[in-house]
Amino acid sequence: MDFKEKRILITGAAGFIGSNLTDDLLEKGAVVIGIDNLFNGRLENLSGAFKNSNFEFHKGDVRDLNFLLDVFKDVDIVYHFAAFSSVPLSIEMPANCNDVNVNGVLNVLNAARKENVDKIIYSSSSSVYGDILALPVREDMPRVPISPYGASKLACEAYMHAFHHVYGLKTISLRYFNVFGPRQKDSPYSGVIAIWLGNILRNEDLTINGDGTISRDYTYIKDVIQANLLAAEYDTGGEIFNIGAESPISLTDLANLMLKLTSKSNLKIYYSDPRPGDIIHSYADITAAKQKLQFDPKYNQEQGLLDYFKWYNFTYKTNLKISP
Ligand code: UD1
Repeated sequence: MDFKEKRILITGAAGFIGSNLTDDLLEKGAVVIGIDNLFNGRLENLSGAFKNSNFEFHKGDVRDLNFLLDVFKDVDIVYHFAAFSSVPLSIEMPANCNDVNVNGVLNVLNAARKENVDKIIYSSSSSVYGDILALPVREDMPRVPISPYGASKLACEAYMHAFHHVYGLKTISLRYFNVFGPRQKDSPYSGVIAIWLGNILRNEDLTINGDGTISRDYTYIKDVIQANLLAAEYDTGGEIFNIGAESPISLTDLANLMLKLTSKSNLKIYYSDPRPGDIIHSYADITAAKQKLQFDPKYNQEQGLLDYFKWYNFTYKTNLKISP
């Protein structure tokens, strides 16, 4: 797609995935309207974007329909990333999680409908599947979420599909499998790779929740951006696609790999109680995305981790010793 002609709105533009996509679309010549309530997002993530005259930013919340109606004027495509995105926090605050995720999606869809937005691309999650036993998991397999977060994401997908069916909106949902990479926050509620990178930089030991056999299909941010760009040109019938790396790894193997790549094998790995709400195994079948979107992931976990660590060294002038 020639993005030069497009006006693209990104919710959650100051966050991890939103800011990476913002930079990519600006590079491709699109006009990008970023919105974020700056609760989790950081303006620092948009420092490059602010230098580009094709970028505008509005601070606001997706739960505020009037705000959305204002900013959605003359927009071609909406990418919806703004979300309550932590499994453990959703267990502490299920109503907040529902409010941000489900009411947020409803507002985005309603505003898009009223302002005649051409397409809405939604960030869903592998957490909608719950503890499915058949792996790798395909889009048409049962969805039985085991956390309020997963339940909220499933409800959002249902609204996306319903709005396509009833109002003819072009909607598409991408189910991400544990995205990692530059700009992911190191906070107690962040993804495990960002947390462990923080530990490594501070020379702290790593903690694994459970016995280490839990596995995830960690997907590098650059492949997720590729999927989002492809989704913009896909002639959608309200579909949903898994976006994963097709290479699951256990927590123990991941911890050892991160220590090896950063030459920190002196650090220890401790095991603690399993975390409530955790899925045991998550592993994507991405046949549909490959066939229909032409999705072609380029990074396995080791390549993604190396690229991430190099970015970290360059950006924060750290001197992690990175060795493949
Ligand atoms: C993550 C995303 C979620 C996304 C989902 C599927 C985050 C915060 N959550 O959830 O938005 O929808 O993937 O793509 O990015 N763990 C440890 N030690 C730690 C921290 C975590 O062992 O110090 C464990 C967790 O208990 C869990 C695993 O690592 O078993 C992965 O956890 P996490 O990175 O938080 O991701 P998900 O919960 O899978």
